[in-house]
Amino acid sequence: MVVGISGASGLPYALDLLSALKAAGVEVHLVATRGALEVLKSETELKPEALFALAHRHYREDELAAPIASGSFATRGMVVVPTSQTTLAKIAAGIADNLLTRAAFVHLKERRPLVLVPRETPLPLPALKAMLDAAEAGAVILPASPGFYHRPRSVEDLVRFVTQRILDHLGVPLEWAPRWGD
Ligand SMILES: Cc1cc2nc3c(=O)[nH]c(=O)nc-3n(C[C@H](O)[C@H](O)[C@H](O)COP(=O)(O)O)c2cc1C
Repeated sequence: MVVGISGASGLPYALDLLSALKAAGVEVHLVATRGALEVLKSETELKPEALFALAHRHYREDELAAPIASGSFATRGMVVVPTSQTTLAKIAAGIADNLLTRAAFVHLKERRPLVLVPRETPLPLPALKAMLDAAEAGAVILPASPGFYHRPRSVEDLVRFVTQRILDHLGVPLEWAPRWGD
């Protein structure tokens, strides 16, 4: 699985997903943008090395020769969590100017699952148009927008709700958060 982290608010979503994928025994190839590492500093106490340690392999955004830049490298899919509006617009337009956007382009071209988790509010027209374009190109737009019907008691419960939806869309069979009806 390829996990991309871009510079939107919501690094706890990325950390929770990485923990879930580890629990599910999924091999993770991680690419974080420079923007993501900036947000990591603002939102957590973690050093980048601690983030990278949650993946089997990790890459800088300028490592364009990494395996995940090629469609010949087999993956189950990719998620960009969180997805900044910059990264979303680039993916929607087919701009592959760093390893994250290149890997996303590859997932679209190979018709493999690509889940985008944008975090921004309110959404201006360019963002809405980019979401439409990305969805038409085959991506799943899965906003970081947790429900409340499972009666969350903590921020972790809210984060896990979003992680569960991502896992479901990537076809990872892991029960990470309560479901409607549980
Ligand atoms: C602390 C912090 C929070 C940010 N939050 C968001 C956000 O929630 N959504 C967003 O689209 N951009 C956000 N940004 C702006 C992006 O980081 C910026 O547009 C950057 O160019 C994104 O680059 P990237 O997509 O290559 O990571 C934030 C920036 C910082 C420093």
